[in-house]
Amino acid sequence: SKLKMFVDDLPNMPKVYGYKVVDGVPKSKSLKIGMFKKKWKFHRDLPPTTVYAYGLNKHKATIPGPTIEALNGISTDVTWQNHLPPNHILPWDPTIPTSLTKTTNGIPTVVHLHGGIHEPESDGNPNSFFTAGFKIKGPTWTKKSYHYPNNQHPGNLWYHDHAMGLTRVNLLAGLIGTYIIRDPSIESTLKLPHGNEFDLPLMLFDRSFKTDGSIFMNSTGNNPTIHPQWQPEYFGDAIIVNGKAWPRLTVRRRKYRFRIINASNARFFRLFFSNGLRFVHVASDSAYIGKPVTSNETLVGPSEITDVIVDFSESKSNVAILRNDAAYPYPTGDPVDETSGKVMKFVILPDKEVDTSRIPEKLVEYPVVDLSSVTETRYIAMYEYTSDIDEPIHLYFNAKPYEAQVTEIAKVGSSEVWYVINLTDDNHPLHIHLGLFKVLDQTELVKSDEFKDCMTKNNDAVKCHVDEHARGKKVKVPDYEKGWKNVFKMRPGFVTKIVVRFAYIHTNATYGFDATKESGYVYHCHILDHEDNAMMRPLKMIK
Ligand code: C2O
Ligand code: CU
Repeated sequence: SKLKMFVDDLPNMPKVYGYKVVDGVPKSKSLKIGMFKKKWKFHRDLPPTTVYAYGLNKHKATIPGPTIEALNGISTDVTWQNHLPPNHILPWDPTIPTSLTKTTNGIPTVVHLHGGIHEPESDGNPNSFFTAGFKIKGPTWTKKSYHYPNNQHPGNLWYHDHAMGLTRVNLLAGLIGTYIIRDPSIESTLKLPHGNEFDLPLMLFDRSFKTDGSIFMNSTGNNPTIHPQWQPEYFGDAIIVNGKAWPRLTVRRRKYRFRIINASNARFFRLFFSNGLRFVHVASDSAYIGKPVTSNETLVGPSEITDVIVDFSESKSNVAILRNDAAYPYPTGDPVDETSGKVMKFVILPDKEVDTSRIPEKLVEYPVVDLSSVTETRYIAMYEYTSDIDEPIHLYFNAKPYEAQVTEIAKVGSSEVWYVINLTDDNHPLHIHLGLFKVLDQTELVKSDEFKDCMTKNNDAVKCHVDEHARGKKVKVPDYEKGWKNVFKMRPGFVTKIVVRFAYIHTNATYGFDATKESGYVYHCHILDHEDNAMMRPLKMIK
């Protein structure tokens, strides 16, 4: 049976403050946030779904979890508590290389604050997982309470599970939430739309459901003899925003700010409005851009964040559908259909409003990276290994499994250039923990078969003369994606050049914590099914 669209109101997730105000002065705060198994209504006509949800308690737990509001310069400590029962609600393929031994006495979880600049022990290393009551702990587990200094630039982050080999199923089950760092000293002068009604996170993801309401995950692998359950990408046929399938929101004729987070496992969204309304970008991922950029559409890969102003006073109609036309897998897969081509509906009130918010000429300008200060150049090649039936077995960076010895060892405070060489047919959203990066250019590989051949044999970009091959057409990076990012879409058959900064972007200061501790960080593809199998590598910091 088909679910009717636009019958549920868009929820605004509950807020949890990561600071307290004492005599008018904000102070640090410690929170306890749990993971609970509970029922969630994704749609009016769908029976309640069993999910895993974050919340202050089981009753308050939501999908997505509460929006955590943090303040620049005021630290937040969170004890993430696993209250999940012993058995997973979703299939757990024990054959993928990163898989933990399947147990019946607990579900491994660990929380990563995506976009956060913080110590490795609080980063949610995949091997720092823990089960209910911290009974089973991963090899790099060190502490119960995570420390987030929030000393970074203002912007959008999100928190989600990161357990080794289980990230795709733990997120599918619902372990996601928004985290916003605000800096009133910078943001109040911008006068962007603000407040609970006009400044809204929109967390987008796709899910499939069985008629009994449970989450449907295809659990017959395309290579059943190799991986009985692992699928190269999860796609769902219902589009969920803030926990409701195809919701609706009644809006006033004025400006709104939407912080759009793609929390899908593998689906890209190319968003646009049915009635021609436009996006005015103010930030991408966790950082403001220098000045606003207007576009008709915005392509958001898994885990990318697009932060936009939409001015409904410019609407010629009283209804606007937010639509999506990104093929899945992106870019060469199936075109969207009736269901995945629509996201949500805006009902626009007829009367024009007084709107004191504005779109300033300038937003936030960060110091430029001096490319002559770059101390390291790396080549990161993406490979897909297929079986004789031409189905992927696994995907690796630089032909190395996760467990292979760490090769990316970066200096605290340094800047590096990474050439990311995509030798697969899919677009992979690359995410780097701790560092932020700028995308410099994307250049198509010429004679790519020859190059791919050489790389497959040698895995050595220099020896295979990458610069002689990276001479094809250049694709323009859209202006709104030229700011600091922590995820970007690596085009297939292209070399993407990025400059990564392992220091704060808003000041010359290096981190006020020890980034060099043992557990370290990771970088990975944010298509979760790829990350788990095993497009992820350790990232180590040194002094
Ligand atoms: Cu959003 Cu390593 O993850
Ligand atoms: Cu990928």
